[in-house]
Amino acid sequence: MLPQETIRRKRSGEPLTREEIARFIAGVTDGSVSEGQVAALAMAIWFNGMARDETVALTLAMRDSGDVLDWSDIDRPIADKHSTGGVGDNVSLMLAPIAAACGLAVPMISGRGLGHTGGTLDKLESIPGYTIMPSAALFRRTVKDVGCAIIGQTTALAPADKRIYAIRDVTATVDSVPLITASILSKKLAAGLQSLVLDVKVGNGAFMTDAAEAETLARSLVEVANGAGVTTSALITDMNQPLADAAGNAVEIANCIAFLKGEKAGSRLECVVLAFAAEMLVLSGLEPNRPAAETQAAKALSSGAAAEVFGRMVHALGGPADIVEKVDSHLKPAPVIRPVLAAQAGYLSACDTRGVGLAVIELGGGRSRPDDAIDHRVGFDRLLPLGTKVEKGDEIGRVHAANAGDAVRAAERLTTRYAVAPEAPALSPNILTRIS
Ligand code: URA
Repeated sequence: MLPQETIRRKRSGEPLTREEIARFIAGVTDGSVSEGQVAALAMAIWFNGMARDETVALTLAMRDSGDVLDWSDIDRPIADKHSTGGVGDNVSLMLAPIAAACGLAVPMISGRGLGHTGGTLDKLESIPGYTIMPSAALFRRTVKDVGCAIIGQTTALAPADKRIYAIRDVTATVDSVPLITASILSKKLAAGLQSLVLDVKVGNGAFMTDAAEAETLARSLVEVANGAGVTTSALITDMNQPLADAAGNAVEIANCIAFLKGEKAGSRLECVVLAFAAEMLVLSGLEPNRPAAETQAAKALSSGAAAEVFGRMVHALGGPADIVEKVDSHLKPAPVIRPVLAAQAGYLSACDTRGVGLAVIELGGGRSRPDDAIDHRVGFDRLLPLGTKVEKGDEIGRVHAANAGDAVRAAERLTTRYAVAPEAPALSPNILTRIS
């Protein structure tokens, strides 16, 4: 069928067949379908949506537009996690080594920062020598020998998604549940997973600010991934404040290493990381239930096994051999580090989380344009969680900046991103819903 016929049928609200979706995506991949035609179909899908079968067909066609990795030579369950993105969301950095230390193989294909949210790849590039684009052989060897490797999307994985995403980005068609579902899952399925856990974030620092929308997206992702043969569940998690006590790149790597050394015990971050680790271990069949799985994950953390896996992964992918032991000597410090002080006494009651993410970008830690270079040294750390009682002048966080002027401006911004109230706030639970 001609591409314009497929567009016309979707525009008129007719369901598309598996064959015509596959043909359209083949044309996207070989370039015979034009940019205008991709944009028109994306807009028709934006308006008319897709039934579950159509979304599965779109996801599989996009997955098959490039290589699909085969891990049959690895004698461990192949599992991964994906987050829809947030601020201070460095869960993947600790989760992959914890899961690997518990017996999973985790070939994690991650992304860069998007909008106000941080990106795992940008954080890892704070580590000198770490390569996010290793050869296919090195990626495979690292997953096999270490148990996990966190890398970027190669041009061979789901190339149709790369082209469609770039067009959606400039035609106001990103926020469509079937298109987001096919985009995220085509890349994850191309990584050859057997099971997948999704972190769908909701709140003022997430792309989904509304719980019903987040649930719709989570259900779509779970149903389509399961329909495509990958055992999948989703946790909807709170993003109404930064998850880690740091937001930036090097500061989140430092936070990750402190976490792996047991220095963040009892934090919201630990609760979320262990919940995802448990979910991964149960879905992949390594543990019979969540309490048993969480105990295993906590052991991998407290024994130092996860920290060791993280260190080996970093070294295997080109970074220093002693990143865990000597993190301070490997991460470049920002020239100016300055405390941010509470403007009044009371309880930290609310956070404009998106505003914190944007403040990191303004410091130079994120991008305004896709080809912008970023300053890995800058950001915030020692951020206090909501509900903390402070006196006027107490430190509520620290800013890491390239110069004194930026530090002053960022400190002012951060102060105004937090509300202080006389009463302790009612806090959202860290994990709101599980969808399977
Ligand atoms: N992340 C993706 O990879 N694709 C989308 O469409 C949205 C977020």
